[in-house]
Amino acid sequence: MKIALVGYGKMGKIIGEIATKRGHEIVAQLNETPTLENLNNPDVAIEFSNPEVAFDNIKFCLENQIPVICGTTGWLDQKPEIEKMAVENNTAFLYGSNFSLGVNLFFALNEKLADLMKNFSEYQVQLEEIHHTQKKDAPSGTAITLAEGIINNDPRFDAWKQEETKDSELGIFSVREDEVPGTHSVFYKSEVDEIEIKHTAFNRNGFAVGAVIAAEWIQGKRGNFSMKDVLFDK
Ligand SMILES: NC(=O)c1ccc[n+]([C@@H]2O[C@H](COP(=O)([O-])OP(=O)(O)OC[C@H]3O[C@@H](n4cnc5c(N)ncnc54)[C@H](O)[C@@H]3O)[C@@H](O)[C@H]2O)c1
Repeated sequence: MKIALVGYGKMGKIIGEIATKRGHEIVAQLNETPTLENLNNPDVAIEFSNPEVAFDNIKFCLENQIPVICGTTGWLDQKPEIEKMAVENNTAFLYGSNFSLGVNLFFALNEKLADLMKNFSEYQVQLEEIHHTQKKDAPSGTAITLAEGIINNDPRFDAWKQEETKDSELGIFSVREDEVPGTHSVFYKSEVDEIEIKHTAFNRNGFAVGAVIAAEWIQGKRGNFSMKDVLFDK
């Protein structure tokens, strides 16, 4: 596969290394707006840039029938527009708030736990995410997916809140610490005990491998997809 890396920062570089090891060719490494010239005719674009530019980058690729795997977080209010473009241009789009296998298993576990806990109102549910200090958005896209997994399985909730403290019901508490690739916890706390599920990423390789696997999977597909389709709906 010929891969264009749109956004060649911390993630783009690791994705490039892993894709090359898996036998793919990197035809573009961009830290600027994509054009037909600099994209260099790829089979797929992998977009890990920043929240301000992601929408325009993805739009350009889809309008030129280039399938896009996007891991950039913090721009999601515009996702419905992008999904419409993928269909209208007869190409494919896959967004993942988190591409690692472990986090996607954690998403499934979170949904099952939410379903189990929905009748036990003595437990308050809270989320916490910890990331490195250069992260531009808060809460993390992964924490938002976790919150949505709870909302979809527990009728007590219809929205999450961004919180300054760890005390609010379905509040997401964000912590920024040097060098942390990504740690997510969901807490169910009662007067007498606490249940916690937690995922800790040791480095960025898990995200990068997942993005390359998604790029391999999307070849020949049309429409909008998520990592659930790649990992669990084979
Ligand atoms: N989904 C996941 O699994 C996952 C995992 C890690 C990070 N992320 C997200 O991916 C994004 C990138 O993370 P990162 O750690 O690589 O950040 P980074 O800051 O290291 O890299 C971003 C790169 O985008 C480049 N850029 C700036 N303007 C651009 C433009 N117009 N077009 C293309 N590129 C441009 C910057 O020069 C930079 O090199 C963030 O939104 C982060 O939250 C997602």
